Amino acid sequence: MQRTLVKAAHNSSNPMDQILLQGWVRTKRDAKKFSFIELNDGSSLKGLQIIVDASLADYAQVARAQTGASVEVNGKLVASQGGGQKWEVVATSFQVVGEAESDYPLQKKGHSLEFLREIAHLRPRSNLFGAVFRVRSRLAYAIHQFFQERKFCYVHTPLITASDCEGAGEMFRVSTLDPKKPPLNPSGEVDYAQDFFEKSTYLTVSGQLEGEIFASALSNIYTFGPTFRAENSNTSRHAAEFWMIEPEVAFCNLQGNMDLAEEFVKYLVRDVKEHCADDLEFFGKFVDKELLTNLDLVLEKPFVRCSYTEAISIIEQSGKKWEKPVKWGDNLQSEHERYLTEEHFKCPVTIHDYPRSLKPFYMRVNEGESPDRETVAAMDLLVPGIGEIIGGSQREERLEVLRENMANHDLNEKDYWWYVDLRRYGSVPHSGFGLGFERMLMFVTGVANIRDVIPFARTPGNAEF
Ligand code: 4AD
Ligand code: MG
Repeated sequence: MQRTLVKAAHNSSNPMDQILLQGWVRTKRDAKKFSFIELNDGSSLKGLQIIVDASLADYAQVARAQTGASVEVNGKLVASQGGGQKWEVVATSFQVVGEAESDYPLQKKGHSLEFLREIAHLRPRSNLFGAVFRVRSRLAYAIHQFFQERKFCYVHTPLITASDCEGAGEMFRVSTLDPKKPPLNPSGEVDYAQDFFEKSTYLTVSGQLEGEIFASALSNIYTFGPTFRAENSNTSRHAAEFWMIEPEVAFCNLQGNMDLAEEFVKYLVRDVKEHCADDLEFFGKFVDKELLTNLDLVLEKPFVRCSYTEAISIIEQSGKKWEKPVKWGDNLQSEHERYLTEEHFKCPVTIHDYPRSLKPFYMRVNEGESPDRETVAAMDLLVPGIGEIIGGSQREERLEVLRENMANHDLNEKDYWWYVDLRRYGSVPHSGFGLGFERMLMFVTGVANIRDVIPFARTPGNAEF
């Protein structure tokens, strides 16, 4: 007989004479003549109530069905006697597949998120994490759907690379040299010319540069894959390994880029609201009471757009005491970003046209500005509760300006010859951005720490599981 998932059982429109369920015991309650077992198989937030009558031949099995045990139940799906659920199952057979030892850490009681991180191998069985990872899966699907519907081509960019796209020097080295006895060059430094790739290589921080190659051929592309950053920042929004979605669009300027980012974020919120309603309701109850209202706000209004220069004057005129005051030319700190989106505008806001000196070499230099106030066609999308979820720009398509940018960033043109070539053969204005997948997931679930929206978080000092 074929297994029915709990979700499908809940959604059944008719009773069923025979049903097979497999899953894990959440709770058990023994009455005199029968036992109630709540079975969950991860397909939905709500488990299914199983009634095992004491007269059943298998009833002795019930004693072994502790919280956490895996079980297999045959039975009838019948209208529930109690409130709260439409259906329940009256068992005709009941078997324990694998017992759970009595020290099973996920007993039915509230656990702190910190504790649950320590048992990341079991936390997907909890309500919260089941919901988070179902939403994560749906969100990934919706991302592909969004781009595929718009005829964007999905490109797999390499994870091992020799270039530092963001120029922040926060890369993990990839090497097969013997750390105890690495070969040295004449100046006494490790000689990476003798390494596996015959040069220094790293885990990628972004697929953008290779994405631009493909946009210069297939017009509209996106990447969706893991990226790595060796930033030693122990915040609730940074992970050393995270997933990023990077569309790149040929013949598109910054305006078009901001429009695409806004349409994309709204599409994802709408999709998750529609397809993960139960899980979102749970987050709204137990994680963030404002969540559902906030998500509706995202859908209702256009996002605010505000230049970096305007943003600085808003911050300066706010009358607030900042931990780190800023003036034109400084990076916005998280406190400023949060102020803009949470207090000043009270909605998602795209900040655009940042100082040239703050941004990577590939961003397009805006024309007609005084040299000390030069800006680039950059944009960051900030959302309440998190701050930046998207970073992007129009790219520098002019060969000479790109060369100048590279020189300003101390980049050797020879190392990026293929990137420069794109500006020599049929260069076009083009733009793109990166959405942090985990940050988007934090936004739609209300979960406050990035460690709780990724199956196994990689953060400084942490690579268990
Ligand atoms: O702003 P970032 O650094 O932009 C880029 O990497 C560009 N190459 C993207 C592009 O234009 N194609 O990163 C993009 C997004 C950020 O807005 C943030 O959401 C996320 O990636 N992000 C991180 N998420 C988790 N942990 C980290 N350490 C992150 N660093 C960036
Ligand atoms: Mg950024």
